[in-house]
Amino acid sequence: AAPVPGAAFGFTPIAPVAATVDELTVPEGFTYQPILRWGDPLFLDSPAFDAFDQTEAKQRRQFGYNCDYTDILRIDATTALLFVNHEYTNEPIMFPAAQIASDPARVRGVGRAAHGLSVVELTRGSDAEAWEPVVGADRNRRFLDDTPYAITGPAAGSPLLQTVADPTGTVALGTLGNCAGGTTPWGTILSGEENFNGYFAAAGATAADRRYGLTSPTTARGWELDDPRFDIRNPGYENEANRFGWIVEIDPFDPTSTPRKHTAMGRMKHEGANVHIAANGRVAAYMGDDERFDYLYKFVSAGTYVEGSRAANMTLLETGDLYVAQFEGNSTVEIDGSGTLPSDGAFDGVGRWLPLVVGGESQVAGWAVDEVLVNTRGAADLVGATKMDRCEDVEPNPTTGLIYVACTNNSNRGVGTNAVADEANPRTENRDGHVIEIAEDGGDHTGTTFRWSILMLCGDPAQGDQTYFAGFPVDQVSPISCPDNLAFDSEGNLWVSTDGAPDGIGYNDGLFRVRLEGAQRGLVEQFLSVPVESETCGPVIHDDEWHVFVAVQHPGEDGLFATPTSLWPDYAPAGATGVDGTFHGPRPTVVQVLPIPVEP
Ligand code: FEO
Ligand code: CA
Ligand code: CA
Ligand code: CA
Repeated sequence: AAPVPGAAFGFTPIAPVAATVDELTVPEGFTYQPILRWGDPLFLDSPAFDAFDQTEAKQRRQFGYNCDYTDILRIDATTALLFVNHEYTNEPIMFPAAQIASDPARVRGVGRAAHGLSVVELTRGSDAEAWEPVVGADRNRRFLDDTPYAITGPAAGSPLLQTVADPTGTVALGTLGNCAGGTTPWGTILSGEENFNGYFAAAGATAADRRYGLTSPTTARGWELDDPRFDIRNPGYENEANRFGWIVEIDPFDPTSTPRKHTAMGRMKHEGANVHIAANGRVAAYMGDDERFDYLYKFVSAGTYVEGSRAANMTLLETGDLYVAQFEGNSTVEIDGSGTLPSDGAFDGVGRWLPLVVGGESQVAGWAVDEVLVNTRGAADLVGATKMDRCEDVEPNPTTGLIYVACTNNSNRGVGTNAVADEANPRTENRDGHVIEIAEDGGDHTGTTFRWSILMLCGDPAQGDQTYFAGFPVDQVSPISCPDNLAFDSEGNLWVSTDGAPDGIGYNDGLFRVRLEGAQRGLVEQFLSVPVESETCGPVIHDDEWHVFVAVQHPGEDGLFATPTSLWPDYAPAGATGVDGTFHGPRPTVVQVLPIPVEP
């Protein structure tokens, strides 16, 4: 049956797609359309994309690379704002090898300008049509490496954030490694600065630097050759990397606004942050630190949400309390990775939010507040937090208030001297990842205790993987591996996008709907599959309009410019430059999936 916008959203799940397929596959009756691709123009003066002739100046006026967090904020029936993170760049597939060899400074400049964030106004003729960018719209904006970010909160101005270029420690330039994110109830965007360490030449001079992986004297992109701040061995720049690894908040509605980095929310390899308004009006933000054996965090605002007062709500994330999670299982069966369920039939237990900063005071003995907030990982190490299997997206369900944690994988669990499996991270060498469901005690999102259970242990039962889908029959689910980004539809169903499935279950990554309620709880249904060597990011589910959006990140990432492994989405002939709107090579792209129009 063809999809029927206006009726309740539904689809027939697709079969898993082999990891060699260079197509975006959608359910029967649906089609897809790119909204914006790497290099597409955003402004009236944007030069046309030409992959053979990109420059930093051109790229600054074009859509960036490797889209991750995405949201589409609908303003009225025919107007919306698109927000996108541009997490990183893949230079070997972006530039001809000869250009990389002969003009590396040019390549570095384009690469820098392809990072950051984008806000783009969208339009459409009606809600039955796909959104299109409005080139030159007043609210269109690129956030670039020289965009100033105001540093807020208790660590603003700290000596730990001061550099010779910013002795005040209050203004950082640019944002790096922006991965997942969240949209706040007051209409701002939160974006997580994740793998910032890879941009800095470093010597691992301090324990804190080592804890964040700031140890390599060289970087892949070499930006330190152009700007001394990207080498923290340079006198005066020892703290430059401390100015990254934050949650940034931006106002997509005001193109002149100054984005902010919130120190009260701690510094880590932030995957993202998602906010829930608690019953008492304070807001809780749930956050993952995506590294093997790192932690799950919660921020609770000091102030309370005021409906209709955007200016007041804009300050909520500047002041508040910071906690890190400790999980405790409740079963007597040893969890050894054999697939045996615990003695009580569930991976579950209780947990505590361990305080790091409360009421503006450090809760870590011997650590000042700014030390806790800048070296949050080290502080969390001291209080007994539970080492997790790479927390990616962490998101409260707006319908139920339950919190979902995507633990994407951890190949090192139980290996060597590393932490062994526990009930919350129950697999040794966790290849396929799992999703944890958290219920705050008493439904109080500002409290310090919770209950938890594992919603699903991912994998492919048909290949013999030991899996668990909240008790749903494992032979009736779509195989799924490496959960990464989370979203919810208007009915409260969970949507999960994946990153790493080819290395796990051998299929391309995809987007999946997961039922959470009733007899179908645990049912996983695959909605789409992304092209070869890409991950699925930024799912946005507008099921009321039968529209689903994803960011396709790093298609064909194992190829080279001259020998691409993906030609998606343009499938252009060899030599196509982009001047005609196409490129013989892959382009990270935000796409809209929508029903195929039915002829009247
Ligand atoms: Fe950029 Fe944790 O994924
Ligand atoms: Ca149990
Ligand atoms: Ca991610
Ligand atoms: Ca990932």
